[in-house]
Amino acid sequence: MIVCVCHRVSDKTIARSAQQGAGFDDIQLEHGVATQCGKCEGAARQIWSECRLSGRLAHLVHSTTGAHNAA
Ligand code: FES
Repeated sequence: MIVCVCHRVSDKTIARSAQQGAGFDDIQLEHGVATQCGKCEGAARQIWSECRLSGRLAHLVHSTTGAHNAA
């Protein structure tokens, strides 16, 4: 789903960037989200926030189980 119509940025793009550790400013610089009309900012920040948190939780699960040492 396109979140930022002005720059044609999808929710998947925002989610992927957040999960890779990008800050919201990074996403704005790289993809232009919320840099033109600004109407997408609330939705974009919500997606970024949710995906950033899930990424942190995933990291904690790996850290506590030692899964990062496997393989
Ligand atoms: S919809 Fe994202 S800046 Fe306009």
